[in-house]
Amino acid sequence: MLVPDKIVRTGKCSVLKLALQANKKDSFMNTLENKTAFVTGGSRGIGAAIVRALAEDGASVTFTYSNSAEQAEALIANLESKGYRVKAVQADNRQRGAITAAIEELVSSEGGLDILVNSAGTFIVKPFEEHTWEDYDRIMAVNVEAIVEACMAASKLMSTSGRIISIGSSMAKRVSAPMSTLYSMSKSALVGLTKGLARDLGTKGITVNLVQPGSVNTEMNPETSPFADFQRSLMAIPQFGKPEHIASMVSYLASPQSSYTTGSIIDIDGGYHA
Ligand SMILES: NC(=O)c1ccc[n+]([C@@H]2O[C@H](COP(=O)([O-])OP(=O)(O)OC[C@H]3O[C@@H](n4cnc5c(N)ncnc54)[C@H](OP(=O)(O)O)[C@@H]3O)[C@@H](O)[C@H]2O)c1
Repeated sequence: MLVPDKIVRTGKCSVLKLALQANKKDSFMNTLENKTAFVTGGSRGIGAAIVRALAEDGASVTFTYSNSAEQAEALIANLESKGYRVKAVQADNRQRGAITAAIEELVSSEGGLDILVNSAGTFIVKPFEEHTWEDYDRIMAVNVEAIVEACMAASKLMSTSGRIISIGSSMAKRVSAPMSTLYSMSKSALVGLTKGLARDLGTKGITVNLVQPGSVNTEMNPETSPFADFQRSLMAIPQFGKPEHIASMVSYLASPQSSYTTGSIIDIDGGYHA
């Protein structure tokens, strides 16, 4: 918003400059007007911040959750009260077919899909020798298979300037502590998926990128946990990230401005890899 005092003091040329700046700012706002977005795991944490950011940028957003119906409803109520278009659908990543059904339903009700964000994820911490096939199946179903499924559905149904963005982890690149082998392995799979899919979909004008967060303060990894100080000790900026730090990168990658960025693996980790 232009401040009248500033206009009077700065004179005519500066008034013009300020007006141009204001217009320029507007052109970067609501960049997702008329776009339809689908976000997995949007009820809490990083996914919820992504839902909020995409809605604020002007997209109509549908997100999934598995158990947190109340949190999903609260997020919708909050965003709808501000005039944003948001819907939620219960779809468990462990159930093959659930994500496809949700995406197909979205495409038939909204008329298309422009942005897919794979954020839902699960973390199991335990010594490797205690892992079971049940743990393996859960990690792979939620962190890998559901993402493959969402990408399969989206690649068939998405518009030509579509955007696919997945949330991986800094632990795909550097595993700084024991007890998270299966999780790290599952997140590493997203690197190959992202690079391969960028090649497969590039000629269709669909970009595919992976955002790898470091330690972000959510229920999955609270900044007050007994492991938090160790994590801080590994960072150049010794603080946990906020979900909004990840959401703002997703917001950029979802926008028309990012059309030349694809197959990229982007670390947002307070310098954990510096
Ligand atoms: N926090 C970190 O430090 C950090 C670091 C690196 C990467 N990440 C990644 O960032 C993503 C979001 O993590 P977060 O920290 O925001 O976690 P979170 O607070 O635990 O939230 C997880 C989200 O995923 C959903 N989800 C979990 N299991 C699901 C399933 N089987 N089917 C459908 N949805 C499911 C949850 O839905 P419900 O609410 O219904 O359970 C929730 O919306 C994950 O992929 C995670 O691996 C997090």
